[in-house]
Amino acid sequence: MAEYDAIILGAGAAGLFCAGLAGQRGRRVLLVDHADAAGKKILISGGGRCNFTNTGTAPDRFLSASPHFAKSALARYSPADFIALVEAYGIAWHEKTLGQLFCDGSARQIVAMLLDECAKGGVEIALGQPIAAVDHADGRFRVTVGARTVSAPALVIATGGPSIPKLGATGFAYDCARRFGLKVAEPRPALVPLVLTGDDLLFRELAGVAAEVVAHHGKAAFREAALFTHRGLSGPAILQISSYWRPGAEIAIDFLPDAAPGWLKQAKRAQPRATLAKTLALPGRLAEALADRLALPGELANLPDAKLAASEAALSRWRFHPSGSEGFAKAEVTVGGISTADLSSQTMAARRVPGLYAIGECVDVTGWLGGYNFQWAWASAAACAAAL
Ligand code: FDA
Repeated sequence: MAEYDAIILGAGAAGLFCAGLAGQRGRRVLLVDHADAAGKKILISGGGRCNFTNTGTAPDRFLSASPHFAKSALARYSPADFIALVEAYGIAWHEKTLGQLFCDGSARQIVAMLLDECAKGGVEIALGQPIAAVDHADGRFRVTVGARTVSAPALVIATGGPSIPKLGATGFAYDCARRFGLKVAEPRPALVPLVLTGDDLLFRELAGVAAEVVAHHGKAAFREAALFTHRGLSGPAILQISSYWRPGAEIAIDFLPDAAPGWLKQAKRAQPRATLAKTLALPGRLAEALADRLALPGELANLPDAKLAASEAALSRWRFHPSGSEGFAKAEVTVGGISTADLSSQTMAARRVPGLYAIGECVDVTGWLGGYNFQWAWASAAACAAAL
């Protein structure tokens, strides 16, 4: 039976990075994945350019049952650390918006860099190999990978979450964690388009229309673009709010975030002959649809101030009741996962199973849209690698 210092399950962002770092610390590492290529999600991320970090990374941009859990790892491995690595490989990058850093060229450069880091650490990579069994006895983990069984005193779960199953994503991490007695916070699709039905169905006529809005749910609010689709709502503002939304709840959209209170009454004085639709600083089809639903026909001059005030309020807090989300098939990430209560925030080690670790998306830490999820993958991997 081949023996290693650490076996890492999952050659995605977190697993690749952890393997390279641990290997370069002199550990004999085996990195295993059932997919035939490493880092498939990295390759499609950021529209093929990989939004590999966000300069605004801060713990409050991550969702978790334990809001403090991510602090330590994020502080010890920062966006600047990853940028330094990217630059050491001569990978050109640019900031797109809101601190989001992308490769100028291709996400392939990030995967090639991570594989190179693994090669430098002498990491053995076994791809296209199903994991048939994971056992633990006498302080060692035994993993049956394809036709062989390997063993190590340390096992790192880095198989991600179940979003985008067609890329090979599975709930393996959760099953594995549960088998070792770790709890799993209910996994839900996140950064995912929302589906509209019922009264909201009519908005689907607007498929293709986008506008800058503020999307609200509870205390969360995101000012970015929202996009109407054939199924409902998408665009960055909606993807962001979807991570906070729960089935049955409503979301509210401020369609005119820059409008000052009383703007509609002022518009009535300034342009009495204008219609409501013409007054709305929004794409034409959207303005018409909203004015239709507010049922205020004709010129502003003929509309009572009280009705204008009510419309203004409705436009700044338009309520949608999504019937669901587009699910794991379309979700960029998964909210929930292996409970942080069962892990050390310093090392990502399971508190009650010596030698067991969990890193990356499979842990109950989920970032906002915009490079935060990769930064969590790098940071949690670095914290773990330092302990292997
Ligand atoms: P990841 O999913 O990367 O890796 C898990 C690995 O485990 C995979 O290689 C998989 O094949 C393997 N695996 C799963 N089950 C297994 C099993 N049973 N046996 C063996 N192996 C198994 N984030 C960001 O910060 N910036 C961005 O630009 C984007 N863009 C983006 C676009 C799209 C379309 C998606 C779907 C996601 C993003 N993300 C993103 C999110 C980001 O891709 C994600 O958070 C990280 O890849 C998570 O890294 P992990 O290593 O934890 O999981």
